[in-house]
Amino acid sequence: MTPPSTHTSPLTDKWYHGTDAAPFVAWTFPPPAPSPADLAHTALFFTTNRAFAEGAGKTICTVEIKPDIAVITPALGGSQSTELRKSLLKSNPLAARCTWLSDDDTWIRSWKTGEVMRFACDMSDPTSTLLVSKGLALVEANLRKIIASPVSDAVIKDQAMQCLTRAWIEQIVVESRKLGYQAILGTEIDRWGGHAAPPAEPWLAILDPTAVSAPNWL
Ligand SMILES: NC(=O)c1ccc[n+]([C@@H]2O[C@H](COP(=O)([O-])OP(=O)(O)OC[C@H]3O[C@@H](n4cnc5c(N)ncnc54)[C@H](O)[C@@H]3O)[C@@H](O)[C@H]2O)c1
Repeated sequence: MTPPSTHTSPLTDKWYHGTDAAPFVAWTFPPPAPSPADLAHTALFFTTNRAFAEGAGKTICTVEIKPDIAVITPALGGSQSTELRKSLLKSNPLAARCTWLSDDDTWIRSWKTGEVMRFACDMSDPTSTLLVSKGLALVEANLRKIIASPVSDAVIKDQAMQCLTRAWIEQIVVESRKLGYQAILGTEIDRWGGHAAPPAEPWLAILDPTAVSAPNWL
């Protein structure tokens, strides 16, 4: 059964998508991974802040979001937000140790601040440390196979951290889709804008391509 929508923010706002790709006529779903070294997402990402979208790419389009789609807004709390938190806790051993999943208050706050978009766990906990280092070692080994040209350890480590971030966001996407949602509304910290105190920007993940119009390039 389709869960009732939990959004309050108007999906009728203008939603922007920024890309470095050439303008395309229709969304490919899932979208192409930015590079072979990146984990592919199974969502399309939008924001109502054009400048924030430009951080992802200078070629900008807008879309209309279909009304009455099933949207979850975890920052609002309530039973649906808790259900998503608990699904994530059960999704894998590393997610089970994620700081943002500790309790409802932490979960809700992390969606309000945008911190939820970066995986975090207690690195003084030996099990968490072990899980993170094992995960990163696997990703790094894989990256060394994929990346043909010789690259430094620092580059590989940086790319592995990005893969961890993408894997965490993708886990949120996967668990939300399993619960029947077509979109997630939240915020993401703007790390591209060069702000001293980066603000939380509106963030929309579309999990079902029928929920969004074709891109309208500006
Ligand atoms: N792109 C944005 O405007 C935007 C908005 C909010 C947040 N973000 C954040 O930025 C990160 C990367 O997001 P992203 O949007 O670059 O996604 P992504 O990293 O999954 O990259 C997919 C890329 O493929 C491009 N693409 C090329 N042809 C396409 C086609 N036919 N259909 C669909 N996509 C096509 C997309 O434009 C995008 O650049 C995510 O963490 C997301 O939360 C991005």
